[in-house]
Amino acid sequence: MSDAGSEAPVDCTSTEAWSRLTSLADGFAPDLRAWFAADPDRVRRLSLTAADLHVDLSKSLLDDEVLAALLALADEVGVARRRDEMFAGRHINVSEDRAVLHTALRLPEDARLDVDGQDVVAEVHDVLRRVYAFADDVRDGTWTGVTGERIRTVVNIGIGGSDLGPVMAYEALAAYRQDDLECRFISNIDPTDAATTLAGLDPATTLFIVSSKTFGTLETLTNARLCRAWLLDGLSDHDAGDAVRRHFVAVSTALDKVEAFGIDPGNAFGFWDWVGGRYSMDSAIGTSLAVAIGPARFAEMLSGFHAMDEHFRTTDPPANVPMLMGLLNVWYANFLGAQTHAVLPYSQLLHRFPAYLQQLTMESNGKGVRWDGSPVTTTTGEVFWGEPGTNGQHAFYQLIHQGTRLIPADFLAFATPAYPLQDSHDGQSVDVHELFLANFFAQTRALAFGKTADEVREEGTAEAIVPARVFTGNRPTTSIMAPSLTPAVLGQLVALYEHITFTQGAVWGIDSFDQWGVELGKQLAQQVGPAIAGDADALADQDPSTQSLIAYYREHRH
Ligand code: F6P
Repeated sequence: MSDAGSEAPVDCTSTEAWSRLTSLADGFAPDLRAWFAADPDRVRRLSLTAADLHVDLSKSLLDDEVLAALLALADEVGVARRRDEMFAGRHINVSEDRAVLHTALRLPEDARLDVDGQDVVAEVHDVLRRVYAFADDVRDGTWTGVTGERIRTVVNIGIGGSDLGPVMAYEALAAYRQDDLECRFISNIDPTDAATTLAGLDPATTLFIVSSKTFGTLETLTNARLCRAWLLDGLSDHDAGDAVRRHFVAVSTALDKVEAFGIDPGNAFGFWDWVGGRYSMDSAIGTSLAVAIGPARFAEMLSGFHAMDEHFRTTDPPANVPMLMGLLNVWYANFLGAQTHAVLPYSQLLHRFPAYLQQLTMESNGKGVRWDGSPVTTTTGEVFWGEPGTNGQHAFYQLIHQGTRLIPADFLAFATPAYPLQDSHDGQSVDVHELFLANFFAQTRALAFGKTADEVREEGTAEAIVPARVFTGNRPTTSIMAPSLTPAVLGQLVALYEHITFTQGAVWGIDSFDQWGVELGKQLAQQVGPAIAGDADALADQDPSTQSLIAYYREHRH
């Protein structure tokens, strides 16, 4: 194994800081009302800046002793050392013997970073230049389909990290898209996805981007073949090779497989095995986004990523936002019993952000062994979930406010809306974004400070229903605000969560960059295929429950 990262992980539970946190958690009785009253400086002390993000941790269940112990924990387990190893390109992805260098994807062109004998920055910018030239050609109509018509729809075919990031960013940056160009995304092997996504499209003006790091993913290759058949069917007057050349490009680390699929290697954009799938939206995997928003905006997004990288790399732990947020998550998950973590964007544009974060966080830290192969020593990997406010308010916030579980939540909002609208009502004009933000502020306030029984009574509530109307408060939130949702700010947000995820993995001793847990199901799906198709031997190899489910399928399929 070459240039491996840290040797054995420090067992976080055997550190002095862990013992200290355990005793602090014992009988911990947070009282945000009292803490705010006793410390007028709390908001200032716990409000931090990271690039363009304003992050308010004051409504966290954090006092000075807990904060000091969390920082001591980071120190004892060596979070900063592992971070530096990552940035330097050491092989901290031990089970795949790989460097972890998504941060190199956003280094400026004049930087240099030698990894395994290669300057990766030069390679990154070579590919970026090609992606940008392609994006410009599609956007200005220089790139035409086989009939000579310009492209109106770009369809990204990919799954997991080859889909979630591009979709999320395409939605988030809707205000920056070129009007006469649309992107669509096919990910699921459910044939409904390809069928409904292609419905109404004209093959002559449609271009496909097959995005797959490995170019071996069943879903993506199947969908790519479906799309190729659809294209050739619609363009049957033209030579098939020409049609594929003009309507298919690929993004992959496996350029030989791209060629074997029939895509011209000249129309393929590469990346590298040191970019994990869920960390790849800022590589060529973001080509559909580059087409949608244009190279200049894409470059702004990369500079936002880089700004957050620099914050994480260079800021001392007490002011290092991703590190503090990661440590706070450890506090909630390992000491206060939180099992889930909500991410609640007060921005409809970020409606796919929680889904994107689910892969980032859970594929990274849903692990039961540490990077040396030994079992983890504590619980790992919270369930991340969320929906945009205010939709979530009318769905699941009840449980966050008054349920019996602790659910830490990150609230995200932007001062300036992408689409400012006024509502005129009863002779008054109201800025709808302000109504929206009023909900953001109100929710975090209600969660933190609640409502006592006396306050409920003061409202004239009948005694019998007072308990039902009490809010205990002390439900932790982190508020993240930025001036507006620009490409740069989106890059900062994604990098923030990448580094939060990293910090948690580093504390737990986890390799946050492999994903072996998705392999078994893939393998079994290959084996079960013949059984579904009626192969008696393959059916006999299945367990009784699977046999019974297959029998149900065969009986009911029309
Ligand atoms: O689900 C497992 C996974 O390997 C993800 O990590 C990855 O993002 C996704 O599959 C897609 O893989 P690929 O880009 O190689 O098609």
